[in-house]
Amino acid sequence: MPDVEPVILVHGGAGTISDFAKAERVIAGVKEAAKKGYQVLRSGGSVVDAVQAAVELMEDNEVFNAGRGSYLTLDGEVEMDASIMVGSDLSAGAVTVVKDIKNPIALARLVMEKTGHVLLAGEGAKRFAVDQGVKPLEPGALVTPATLEALAKWKLKHGGAPSEMGTVGAVGIDSKGRLAAATSTGGREGKMAGRSSDTCMLGSGTYADDEIGAVSTTGHGESIAKFCLAHAIIRGMGNGESADEATKKCIDVMTQRLNNTAGAITLSRTGEVGIGFSTNRMSWAYQKKNKLYFGIDKNQCSCDDV
Ligand code: GLY
Ligand code: GLY
Repeated sequence: MPDVEPVILVHGGAGTISDFAKAERVIAGVKEAAKKGYQVLRSGGSVVDAVQAAVELMEDNEVFNAGRGSYLTLDGEVEMDASIMVGSDLSAGAVTVVKDIKNPIALARLVMEKTGHVLLAGEGAKRFAVDQGVKPLEPGALVTPATLEALAKWKLKHGGAPSEMGTVGAVGIDSKGRLAAATSTGGREGKMAGRSSDTCMLGSGTYADDEIGAVSTTGHGESIAKFCLAHAIIRGMGNGESADEATKKCIDVMTQRLNNTAGAITLSRTGEVGIGFSTNRMSWAYQKKNKLYFGIDKNQCSCDDV
């Protein structure tokens, strides 16, 4: 395989994002995450280190629905899902319904590297974290005033409109064509305690295969899971579609068939970029060489020199 131009591409969730100030913070957050991932790659880290670092930065940023700032269950708790996958050997790890863990994506990586399993849930995942030296936070540490307010509003309305925005994710390719994908979420507003999302499901929230490409998704988790959105995009590319065609087409078909919205970011095995969403907005950013591309609205792409 000839050398490929490395790319780190991230999303900060698909959704409505109607508040101008919030949109600005979200765009700043995805730009920082893409730059961080690229910097890790440039300083000798692996592509999986790079996507993990990009996602961790967004988990730590409370403007995103992942890590601190995750949406709350109807019981008022943070329960998070994450998954990570390496395209060279299809190794993968995931966690679901984890509480009090600062960086669920790092725990998903430990599941991948230190266990013979792909998915650990709840209490068992937390015990595994402790065994691995990851210290859980105090209960409630990941709850923010904004998410408490969102839950109170949601209950007043007795449900209704979908979450403003979601899930974070990253896909990356290095100069040798090695791909990785990582996705992390606090789930959906108004979710029941114990609900698992597409984000912990390989082929739905996350997929990476060096022979084809890498995908991270966001949006209505139940629909994404039924449609296996990440793998549907991989299949489209396997059938000869470009990263962007496969991404946009699969999101359109999923949205029509299941009447719910989603977004996805994709890299092909040659480093082509795909970005699509059927929500009104999805924040995304990617770095390639010394250019940082970013956007949040349909048919919009801005570029900074970095
Ligand atoms: N509301 C969850 C997501 O957008 O992924
Ligand atoms: N896509 C993430 C969720 O629905 O929770």
